[in-house]
Amino acid sequence: PKRVRVHHLAQMKERGEPITMLTAYDAVTGRIFDEAGIDMLLVGDSIGNTMLGLHGTIPVTLDEMIPAARAVTGAAHRAMVVADLPFGSYEASPQHAFASAVRMLKEGGVHAVKLEGGERIAEHVRLLSQSGIPVVGHLGFTPQSENSLGGARVQGRGDEAAERLVQDAVALQEAGAVAVVLEMVPAPVAERATEVLHIPTIGIGAGPGCDGQVLVWTDMAGMTAWAPRFARKFGDVGAALYTATRTYAGAVRERTFPGPEHTFAE
Ligand code: KIV
Ligand code: NA
Repeated sequence: PKRVRVHHLAQMKERGEPITMLTAYDAVTGRIFDEAGIDMLLVGDSIGNTMLGLHGTIPVTLDEMIPAARAVTGAAHRAMVVADLPFGSYEASPQHAFASAVRMLKEGGVHAVKLEGGERIAEHVRLLSQSGIPVVGHLGFTPQSENSLGGARVQGRGDEAAERLVQDAVALQEAGAVAVVLEMVPAPVAERATEVLHIPTIGIGAGPGCDGQVLVWTDMAGMTAWAPRFARKFGDVGAALYTATRTYAGAVRERTFPGPEHTFAE
């Protein structure tokens, strides 16, 4: 299958074809999601919560992200693979962002990077874009700023905040961003941003009016007891894995596994 590229995203927006995006952190799931036809795989810094047992995305480092990125790019033949630049790896300057993005492309093999923030990182986005590195923006609730935002709360409520969010989105577009993730934004605000921008918006907790949708795969597949309100559980993979594990352990204890077909003769 042909690789999904930046111009395909633009085409999809133009044609009104929804863009599908899902997180992935390893080769096993990356291959499944790629074969299932997901357009964009996000090696998210949500790896902190989902895989590394950390509280939030703030402690995640570039050195933790890169092996995950390499695993996903090694497994995905069709999807565009995007990786987050983690907290502390890009904010200080455009040059700081460039150095981290270069590592993500050279060592992680990804096709694009994602940065949180609007106007304040527009120059960072410009340098990366002009250097040939596609950038996805991320506005609304930005988990790397959870401490200053007061936790996971809807952003862009009220006329002033809504206007600021749309302005941030336009600033990212003008700086060369190829898409913008909108997280926990009132649906009408996300709709307005989607209308104003010519680059695609990809929503998570931003209503049905975006050009695409993204979910954290462990929420999508039902791997955990808790998931955010904006996520739908499309499967019960956690329960299936639990049952498989119980069945395996039971078979070992009853000595029904391994059977003759799993056993080598002399
Ligand atoms: O890290 C992540 O999973 C994300 C998505 C929620 C957009 O940034
Ligand atoms: Na993220």
